[in-house]
Amino acid sequence: MKKKIVSALLTATMVCGMSVVPAVGVAAADDTITVGFSQVGAESDWRTANTESMKSTFSEENGYELIFDDAQQKQENQLTAIRNFIQQEVDYILLAPVTETGWDTVLQEAKDADISVIIVARMVDVSDDSLYTTWIGTDSLLEGRKAAEWLNAYTTAKGIDAKDVNIVDIQGTIGSTAQIGRSKGLEEGVDNYGWNLLAQQSGEFTQAKGQEVMESILKQSGDDIDVVYCENDNEAFGAIDAIEAAGYEVGGEEGQILVMSFDTTNAGLTDTLSGKITLDTECNPLHGPRVQEIIEKLEAGEEVDKQAYVDEEMFAADDTVTSIKVDDADYEVTTITQDIIDGRAY
Ligand code: AHR
Repeated sequence: MKKKIVSALLTATMVCGMSVVPAVGVAAADDTITVGFSQVGAESDWRTANTESMKSTFSEENGYELIFDDAQQKQENQLTAIRNFIQQEVDYILLAPVTETGWDTVLQEAKDADISVIIVARMVDVSDDSLYTTWIGTDSLLEGRKAAEWLNAYTTAKGIDAKDVNIVDIQGTIGSTAQIGRSKGLEEGVDNYGWNLLAQQSGEFTQAKGQEVMESILKQSGDDIDVVYCENDNEAFGAIDAIEAAGYEVGGEEGQILVMSFDTTNAGLTDTLSGKITLDTECNPLHGPRVQEIIEKLEAGEEVDKQAYVDEEMFAADDTVTSIKVDDADYEVTTITQDIIDGRAY
């Protein structure tokens, strides 16, 4: 029998900042699985797609009661949300953590309450990995390494000397798995190939901050910049606006500023097709059905993997580089087409 949420907690659409989706005002039926989802925020198109995937999966029709909390990119809000989920005796806690550290105490509280915690998308860095049941997400370090190998292959194919490659890194939220992995992948490329890292600053995964950061870097060293490595699509949109407003051109040709990005959202791939983004490396947000599969296994008493990575692709504006290698594995680089964009769900 599933734990029941106290019905009084379900009588309003918003309870302590949480929305109950979709059966507001009704106590969960005995066979309904109650899931509390602490989401990072709504900082990017990727995040919106991720929220939508989770909400449409954990629906009443599918046998779930979802308590959704948007933490507005603040860890303290996530800690409060998790404690509320524990109080409400949910069956599962899903956590998309804003940053990796700072979770030991609250996850111990969830463990003490005998609630399974599933970590989604970004990782947690805890001293005891029994504090969560499983993690599903993307390999951000591999994403960064793939992007760096592509840059090396691209500049080599264009006959550009590594010492003439001047890079700006607009980082994601500092301390998040996506930032740590993508920044490290680039930094390894800098060490391996001898590129110049002109500036490294967080754009917090948002378009507004990406634009602001780019504007200020352009003021200091606009003429020197060859490559802008944006750690997600929304930062890339902001950076492109700033670059064009400052009178520079974006693209992969000589004299242009080459923009790299991550996520491969519909809008990101549209900018790739137009050549504004030269490489977009995928980070897939559609985790809802994957998490549901995990919960079904746990409900059936089956073992689940402690960690599961999602396969992801790379899309380029042209076919200068068609494949790259990371750690002896080959990865295809697909030249973007309108058909691919039309088939993109987010
Ligand atoms: O953790 C996934 C990252 O977070 C995505 O790349 C980004 O768009 C989001 O905000």
